[in-house]
Amino acid sequence: MISLYVNGHPVEIDAPADTPLLWAIRDHLGMTGTKFGCGAALCGACTVHVNGQATRSCSMPLGSAAGKKVTTIEGLSSDRSHPLQKAWIAEQVPQCGYCQSGMIMAAAALLAETPHPTDADIDASMTNICRCGTYARVRKAIHTAAGN
Ligand code: FES
Ligand code: FES
Repeated sequence: MISLYVNGHPVEIDAPADTPLLWAIRDHLGMTGTKFGCGAALCGACTVHVNGQATRSCSMPLGSAAGKKVTTIEGLSSDRSHPLQKAWIAEQVPQCGYCQSGMIMAAAALLAETPHPTDADIDASMTNICRCGTYARVRKAIHTAAGN
């Protein structure tokens, strides 16, 4: 049994320590907002926060998250009121939507560290892949959320 905190709540997950954190979140906790893309830490679809750091949950063993605070897209706000969620809607960022949970979580980690990022800051930290090519709107929405 591995104990951690997910979206502010203590949880215990009965799974081997080498289970990817992504599967623990999706299959054991039933929260499917976090997506599987590549499974190899490349695309960022599975991005969550672990102790505030943007983390690719497909490549983090559950055991490494023991005792830590994990935030998923479901925990970013209870009512879609996070500035990034509002900006994402205002700028109509998503196309198919598959990559967007990871994009928002990566952007949230960026804004927590750099509240008013430049284009260069955004390009340097947003390494998530979007097959639909929403990069320009992602960047615009981050600026909107930052009040730039
Ligand atoms: S599914 Fe984790 S980085 Fe692609
Ligand atoms: S919106 Fe379709 S992959 Fe990004």
